[in-house]
Amino acid sequence: MSPLHVVILAAGQGSRMKSALPKVLHRVAGKPMLHHVMDTARRMNAEGIHGVIGHGADLVRAQTVVEDVSWVLQEQQLGTGHAVAQALPNLPDEARVLVLYGDVPLTSEATLNDLVAKVDDRTLGLLTVTMENPDGYGRILRNEQGQVTAIVEQKDASEAQKRIREVNTGILAVSARHLKNWLPTLSNRNAQGEYYLTDIIALAVDNGLNVSVAQPATSFEVQGVNNRVQLAQLERWYQQQQAERLMTEGATLADPARVDVRGELTIGNDILIDVNVVFEGTVSIADNVRIGPNCLIRNAVIAEGAVIEANSILEDAEVGPGASVGPFARLRPGTRLAAKSRVGNFVETKKAVVGEGSKINHLSYVGDATLGAGVNVGAGTITCNYDGVNKHQTVIGDGVFVGSNTSLVAPVTLSEGATIGAGSTITRDVSRQELAVARGKQRNIADWQRPQKKG
Ligand code: UD1
Ligand code: CA
Repeated sequence: MSPLHVVILAAGQGSRMKSALPKVLHRVAGKPMLHHVMDTARRMNAEGIHGVIGHGADLVRAQTVVEDVSWVLQEQQLGTGHAVAQALPNLPDEARVLVLYGDVPLTSEATLNDLVAKVDDRTLGLLTVTMENPDGYGRILRNEQGQVTAIVEQKDASEAQKRIREVNTGILAVSARHLKNWLPTLSNRNAQGEYYLTDIIALAVDNGLNVSVAQPATSFEVQGVNNRVQLAQLERWYQQQQAERLMTEGATLADPARVDVRGELTIGNDILIDVNVVFEGTVSIADNVRIGPNCLIRNAVIAEGAVIEANSILEDAEVGPGASVGPFARLRPGTRLAAKSRVGNFVETKKAVVGEGSKINHLSYVGDATLGAGVNVGAGTITCNYDGVNKHQTVIGDGVFVGSNTSLVAPVTLSEGATIGAGSTITRDVSRQELAVARGKQRNIADWQRPQKKG
């Protein structure tokens, strides 16, 4: 099989986005549209990926830091045919070339594999779709035998041609050798004064090639984004697909329309996900996990039977089996909760390793800390980890009891079985089984007269 090269057209301005950001960097499911297209090309094992850029080229390159894409600058946007021509010097003659658009992010690998499989020296593959309202698209012209003969752009079409509802998606595949013959011969004598890639269809037919047509499973797969309304439509379609996948794989969703997946989410069986939960980055959730409403979960591993209660935020965190988080908890990067541990409401953790069965139930900040097993951290406990310059560690041994409203001024170590009296400010290490109390002594003054209000 000849090698596959993918040319992604992404030089256009996208003025209808009304944005300083190049259109192809606008995101679907948290990822720039262009990156969706590149990922698809990678999944198809393309030998070469060529990004044709122009408008906002520097920004596109800066936000696409990858090594497997060769960039091709199209200084002036003279049309889709001109755009592909810029990549020709980088395409080996024997390659099969698949042309994709950077603003058509969600074409499935299956559809494209189907298209590319049609290509050989004698066959051009064209992806078309039939639309209720074909306005704005190039129309597919067929002869009496039903064979494709040409594409005519809307602006060049006759009234009769405008009634054709089969349209060009823009996506096609053909051997590089042919492109190298045809593209230099394109003319721009047409309604838009552009070099149309679509003109190669008639050239292919003239040269005795077959045009073999593939169609996507649904038109969303080939929907391009020209404005933010279309961006939102594609986002919703994508999320609906994700929700259906999750349900198929064993999650009950309180409302399939109110869960968003922006990254890679893998799940076990019997997961419950309540409304308005957002997953970002790489998240894995084991069997029997329950996630309450309004949670943001980014790059996390949640083990079997864990519960994330409402309004919790997790980032770069691991939650052990049967552990419980929230409501209103914030697990910041580097949080690792062991089995059956608990982090309760209004608790923030960061770089905190919490041992089995330990509890931080209320109103605490635990950062740069290691807690053993069976620790109880009372309400309002703060690890003072930052001296204004450096961060310091707090180490808490197994079975330590920290009374409420305690400040642990790091670096400090509380050894196994230590007890800290409520309201303490702990600045020195506490040994095993010791009780440390560090607070002002209570004075009671009898018959206290409160000040009187002045005349
Ligand atoms: C193109 C097709 C049309 C098809 C439609 C599908 C041509 C002549 N027409 O029309 O048949 O129905 O797509 O959406 O191909 N681009 C460049 N450089 C250029 C011009 C375009 O990189 O010089 C890129 C754009 O950024 C965009 C894509 O190519 O991603 C398509 O360009 P656009 O101008 O939107 O083509 P259409 O007029 O929509
Ligand atoms: Ca377009």
